[in-house]
Amino acid sequence: MRAIVVTEHGGPEVLDLQDRPDPSPGPGELLVAVEAIGVNFRDVYEREGKGTHVSEPPHPAGVEGAGTVSAVGEGVTRFAEGDRVVWSNAPGSYAEQVVVSEDAAVGVPDGVTSETAAAAILQGTTAHYLAVSTYPIQEGDWVIVHAAAGGVGLLLTQIAKRRGGRVIATTSTEEKAALARGAGADETIGYDGFAERARELTGGEGVHAVYDGIGADTFDESLAALRPRGYMVLYGAASGQPPPVEIKKLNAKSLFLTRPTLSNYGRDGDELRMRAADFLGWIAAGELDVRIGGRYPLEDAAQAQADLASRATTGKLLLTI
Ligand SMILES: NC(=O)c1ccc[n+]([C@@H]2O[C@H](COP(=O)([O-])OP(=O)(O)OC[C@H]3O[C@@H](n4cnc5c(N)ncnc54)[C@H](OP(=O)(O)O)[C@@H]3O)[C@@H](O)[C@H]2O)c1
Repeated sequence: MRAIVVTEHGGPEVLDLQDRPDPSPGPGELLVAVEAIGVNFRDVYEREGKGTHVSEPPHPAGVEGAGTVSAVGEGVTRFAEGDRVVWSNAPGSYAEQVVVSEDAAVGVPDGVTSETAAAAILQGTTAHYLAVSTYPIQEGDWVIVHAAAGGVGLLLTQIAKRRGGRVIATTSTEEKAALARGAGADETIGYDGFAERARELTGGEGVHAVYDGIGADTFDESLAALRPRGYMVLYGAASGQPPPVEIKKLNAKSLFLTRPTLSNYGRDGDELRMRAADFLGWIAAGELDVRIGGRYPLEDAAQAQADLASRATTGKLLLTI
């Protein structure tokens, strides 16, 4: 089978299309014929050798995708050959076939295509835990969603609105701002002076929570945009890691600071399935829109990752088989 391998840590050029032996499922595992593959910042950080998820190269690339079960290992009870499944944590997902643990797989409901499922599972679970669990948005809350036209951003904006929140969306271009408004954002603003603008929009108070996946470039101003006892939710670092934080920066407004990751909010199969049931159900009902911003053939994985990191994309990027 064809698969993309990270040959060493480095730029997109270290991704190599290789012929690899067909995998086979062990106990508790599924073999899946892959149809669509999600491209994520996690893949970029891993390729660069930075961030939380770093494996020693060479190793197969990717973690997310959707497809059809072609064989099941011993002891599998929830799935059978022919079932459509989606996953956000199966190493080696940039491939024609992948082994997925039964617990990491979620069934794709009727009415949701494999492409849409692959485009939604990682960012959808993330947007769900951020808005529902990390800082549970209440009716009338003001929140800032940074990079609101991105993969997580568009889904988070829609889920925040479902919960009755009021969303101030930051984006870098007017085209992206229009997408954020389409997702329900109440206000769209640029990054220059966003904290001051957020305070103006909230009658001088500041917002209840900032969801920040940008990191270095926005972190300090995000703290400044919060009201007393507000929540700073730093969930990513698209512009780089922010510098170490002096705890006393939180004093003046008794702020909360958290750095959540999917691994702690989808700790077991039950939690993952609970979240997925919510947002896949909303998608199937036509209540949550998933924007696919680009499709690339498997062999163009390097281009897809370069585009994602370049800040030029909107919504979700997919590799297709
Ligand atoms: N903690 C978790 O569980 C978890 C899970 C999934 C993803 N994440 C994180 O969530 C963030 C968003 O992921 P995504 O896949 O949905 O990406 P994305 O939002 O589609 O793309 C990143 C966006 O960030 C903005 N950005 C600002 N400064 C940037 C810079 N220097 N370089 C690149 N982008 C910059 C850009 O939007 P504008 O041009 O509008 O500024 C860009 O489009 C990433 O930090 C990712 O690591 C975290």
